This record gives sequence, C-alpha cells and structure tokens, in this order.
Amino acid sequence: MLTRLLYVSRAVDKDDKAAIEAILASARSHNPENGITGVLCYGGGIFLQAIEGGRTAVNGLYTQIIRDPRHTPVELLHYEEITERHFGGWTMGQVNLAKLNTSIVLKYSERPEFDPYTVSGKVSMALLEELMATASIVGRV
Ligand SMILES: Cc1cc2nc3c(=O)[nH]c(=O)nc-3n(C[C@H](O)[C@H](O)[C@H](O)COP(=O)(O)O)c2cc1C
Repeated sequence: MLTRLLYVSRAVDKDDKAAIEAILASARSHNPENGITGVLCYGGGIFLQAIEGGRTAVNGLYTQIIRDPRHTPVELLHYEEITERHFGGWTMGQVNLAKLNTSIVLKYSERPEFDPYTVSGKVSMALLEELMATASIVGRV
C-alpha cells in the first residue's frame, strides 16, 4: 500500500549548504533500497519535503527525519494513501525555493516568497506538482 507524506521544517543553520548536500546524499543512498521517492525543497532556512512509498517505509523514514537535529520543529502538512506515485522518477529530487520562478510562486501565495508555514498542505502539494510539470525539480535518477 502506497502513501505520501508532506512536512515542513526549519533548518537549524540556514546557511549550512554542506548539511543540505549531506541530507541529499543520505536520501539518495538509502531511499532506493526502501522504495522511497520524493522531493526536497529548501531555501530561506525552510525545508519542504514530500516522501512517498510503502506505508511502513514512509512512516519509518518520517520517524527518523523528525529526530534529525539539523532541523526543527517538523510540522506535518499532509498524509494520504495513494494509488500511484507523483515523484516516481526521483529517489530524492531537489528544488531551491529561493530560485523559483516568481509567477509560479505568486500563483499559490500572497507574496512572491513561498512560505509553506502560511499556506495549506494542499497548496504546497499543488506547488510541488506544478514544479514537476514545469521541470523545475532537479536530480532525476
Ligand atoms: C530535511 C531532511 C530530509 C531528510 N530526508 C531523508 C530522506 O529522504 N532519506 C533518508 O534516508 N534520510 C533523510 N534524512 C536524513 C535522516 O534524518 C538520517 O540522518 C539519515 O537517514 C541517517 O543515515 P546516514 O547516517 O547514512 O546519513 C533527512 C534529513 C533531513 C534533516
């Protein structure tokens, strides 16, 4: 049974580029063996991550992620059972939130900076789907 989960969190050190690289490296090394796919957006000290896969695998990874000291607090935005993956092509795609096309951001938010804390989980998911449709997610594997 497949599930998809979306959360937002704040990086403890928003300028730590090495931490983002390390997070993406561990995601890309562990996720394939666990059948996890998804996308990690970051920028302005915010992480927005969608993970999808088997329910046990997704819950296990989320439990691990919320204990990770590199970010806090982790706020669950959306959790659903799904019939198919949206991010099946990415072991963990990446998006730099600071470099998003302004018109895409304005489509979903009041201001030209996207802040997942101020919009609904549904809106954040819609933005991720738009990013996928406009080829804004990098790191396809
Ligand atoms: C924002 C964020 C996203 C993460 N995403 C993943 C992920 O998709 N897959 C994963 O295995 N670890 C992810 N991690 C890292 C885990 O919390 C954990 O540190 C890692 O899996 C431990 O394995 P390692 O010691 O081999 O790095 C993430 C951490 C953070 C802070």
